[in-house]
Amino acid sequence: MITTDQQKFQAIISHAKEYGFVFPSSEIYDGLSAVYDYGPWGSELKKNIRDQWWNSMTRMHDNIVGIDAAIFMHPTTWKASGHVDNFSDPMIDNRDSKKRYRVDHLIEGYAEELNKKGHEVEADQLIADMDRLLAANDFAGLKTLIETHKIKCAVSDTCNWTDVRQFNLMFSTQLGSVAEEANEIYLRPETAQGIFVNFLNVQKTARMKIPFGIAQVGKAFRNEIVARQFIFRMREFEQMEMQFFIRPGTQKEWYAYWKEERMKWHTGLGFLAEHYRFHDHVKLAHYADAAVDIEYAFPIGWKEVEGIHSRTDFDLASHQQYSGKKMQYFDHEINQNYIPYVIETSIGLDRMFLLTLSHAYAEEKWVKEDGKEDSRVVLRIPPKLAPVKLAILPLVKKDGLPEIALDLMHQCREDFYCFYEEKDTIGKRYRRMDAIGTPFCVTIDHQTKEDQTVTVRYRDTMKQERVPLGMVRELVRSQTR
Ligand code: GAP
Repeated sequence: MITTDQQKFQAIISHAKEYGFVFPSSEIYDGLSAVYDYGPWGSELKKNIRDQWWNSMTRMHDNIVGIDAAIFMHPTTWKASGHVDNFSDPMIDNRDSKKRYRVDHLIEGYAEELNKKGHEVEADQLIADMDRLLAANDFAGLKTLIETHKIKCAVSDTCNWTDVRQFNLMFSTQLGSVAEEANEIYLRPETAQGIFVNFLNVQKTARMKIPFGIAQVGKAFRNEIVARQFIFRMREFEQMEMQFFIRPGTQKEWYAYWKEERMKWHTGLGFLAEHYRFHDHVKLAHYADAAVDIEYAFPIGWKEVEGIHSRTDFDLASHQQYSGKKMQYFDHEINQNYIPYVIETSIGLDRMFLLTLSHAYAEEKWVKEDGKEDSRVVLRIPPKLAPVKLAILPLVKKDGLPEIALDLMHQCREDFYCFYEEKDTIGKRYRRMDAIGTPFCVTIDHQTKEDQTVTVRYRDTMKQERVPLGMVRELVRSQTR
């Protein structure tokens, strides 16, 4: 049984692999660091999270539309966005182990150790000092902070550090067939820029009036130096971003609106409010005048799952400058031309996936009526996100029971994902469904043939009840959408 958060995290990683949620990428070649593949149930869960986000943004807001921009963009995009010059993290190398660390992660890790040893005041002071030095881009100060606290490399156990330097996180590649003529282009490090460069295309073709939003889901790539903690920090990941274009001067109220709206989305999915908190940024990104993280209590600690950023008119103004094309909007209500301001909501799909597993994973033990112990691993995934909504299980493989079960399956699968299984005992089949988070199982038995009822078994309570066969589809549909 798991007793610590660290054990829970390791258990989630093993479970995700064993039950077809997440595999290390190209595992037969020993994997690729911080790159992962999603298996049958993982891709289904990911799709459900993506759909929930997409529908909540586009279908549920009259003034938000979606796009699907290319990953490759003109290289000047990244000059204009500031990523070529600014998208870097302060890093430090240990001379003995040759291992490279992100400075903030190295210091935060040490602060966590201090906390565990009961030195909370010292830990808080250390983080406060780090935040101040990061905000001031004071690299020499950061190095001194590391040395003063004698923070050691986990591999060499020494404090033999290089100076702190900036490393750009963008991946680049060549576009064009002849190497000498090829242009260097980047794999996008955020999906947002595909929205900015299409701002006028979308505004005109979809006849949008400010305030309005453009949503997008897609892959982003970052050469993360410290890429550990499973799918929390990946080199290839998926973002769900929405840029909300507003009249300059209204950014404070829209920032507050989207903070609240996004938190409601999380808790509305069935995740616990007490596991969330806001964390205001001390060091603002080059484009922002205010920024907040929505943090979640992961088993690896409180960590960012989503960011809400007040991006001012930085991106559009910069694209206007670099492209020479007007990025302005004529506001008929006030008879004025202006470059809109932007509030961005940006959430990592993979992080939301990890959040879902962190919330859902449970190991349970109990004593049965006959005095014997029983146990299970269950994923309490919110039903609307569960990969499989309904398992349809004929008690035996004969007597016409599979036919009834398959008939139910064919009706239901138009509405939601069903899984049919006739092998093994019912108990074993329930356990397998618990392990992938299936909220409902129905068993078709001999009584079904007599009175057209089935046993429904609920994942969370393990309670069973008889319901009419004809009610199953609506019962599951109503509780999983
Ligand atoms: N467009 C703004 C932007 O990209 P960000 O805070 O760098 O902001 C937004 O990223 C979200 O993307 C994060 O809150 C996180 O959920 C996700 N994310 C960022 N880097 C990631 C990585 N290396 N692996 C997985 N998810 C990541």
